[in-house]
Amino acid sequence: MAITVTSPLLPDLGEFNKLLQEIWDSKWITNNGSFHRKLEAALCEYLKVPYISLFTNGTLPLLTALQALRITGEVITTPYSFVATTHSIWWNGCRPVFVDIDPTTGNIDPDRIEAAITPKTTAIMPVHVYGKPCDTKRIQEIADKYGLKVIYDAAHAFGVEVNGESILNAGDLSTLSFHATKVFNTVEGGAMVTHDAETKKRIDYLKNFGFANEVEVVGPGINSKMDEIRSAYGLINLKQVDAAIEARHQVAIQYRKALEKVEGISFFYDMPGVRHNYSYFPIFVDADRFGMTRDELYYLMKEKGVLGRRYFYPLISTFSTYRGLPSASKENLPQAHKMAESVICLPMHHMLCQDDLDLVLETVIEKKR
Ligand SMILES: Cc1ncc(COP(=O)(O)O)c(C=O)c1O
Repeated sequence: MAITVTSPLLPDLGEFNKLLQEIWDSKWITNNGSFHRKLEAALCEYLKVPYISLFTNGTLPLLTALQALRITGEVITTPYSFVATTHSIWWNGCRPVFVDIDPTTGNIDPDRIEAAITPKTTAIMPVHVYGKPCDTKRIQEIADKYGLKVIYDAAHAFGVEVNGESILNAGDLSTLSFHATKVFNTVEGGAMVTHDAETKKRIDYLKNFGFANEVEVVGPGINSKMDEIRSAYGLINLKQVDAAIEARHQVAIQYRKALEKVEGISFFYDMPGVRHNYSYFPIFVDADRFGMTRDELYYLMKEKGVLGRRYFYPLISTFSTYRGLPSASKENLPQAHKMAESVICLPMHHMLCQDDLDLVLETVIEKKR
């Protein structure tokens, strides 16, 4: 059996069945039902955020965030992410402006943001890539100086805290993905974190076609309401997410210990004061020192049944929709290109057994066919 890069956190089936019975009895299967409201409340408590709105996936809250803040013109963002980040800007009729990343974190480099600001810039959309917190303080200072909004794509940052405070409280809005591959999942799902009741109300209108009541539509909303079945699934899953994060942490400890001495392989360490979620374990291959290119290692792993993933390769800025933009040029994004061309995310999940972990490490360390 192949060792996959991730494995979904599945709720206890017995418990889930009980909640399904409740849903069947109530015959209320979507539209702000009781499980939807319960999961929102439970997530606010777990994530230490004041307000949260559930969505059907992690892409629609990104689209909705830009709508809600009436973002127009240019949006500064990172090319080193999943393609949904930039697509959300494009779908809002805005122009993405790519800024290079900081090689020590993989996140947008705050030192390069100001140079990308023009009179048309209205927002910054950074990503906490791999769940590593962006420099939110610096980004906010720049946003305040130029009057820009900040929308964080926090799809990877479930449960991440800096000095005891949720990273999701930074910026104007933050969005999450609860896709099956994420630390916490509702099969498909997502959420938007807001800081005040008025904004939450507006977001809730927008995710329900813009309906404020039976007869009033207050904006060009969309349909992105999480249903009762997935809300119930999420409620049960939330109970085991701490244990899952701890299991991932133990995997990270073993990976780091074994790979520390491998010439030409680098990886990230924990950041001081940060509660990480270990959602990914990216390694970076320096072909000259390692004696094998990233792709050679990637295909060797595949041969051995170790299915790493080259997240995030290719860079978003190289896709046909975006490559014609001036900010998408390779010269503008040297660090992002370097990272995209050297990365492999190793298998990382709460179910990774010792034998599988050993095989992953053996394959990387011994490089034998
Ligand atoms: C950084 C990032 N943003 C957005 C998304 C989109 O989320 P979803 O797949 O839930 O729509 C994902 C992942 O899937 C992601 O990794």
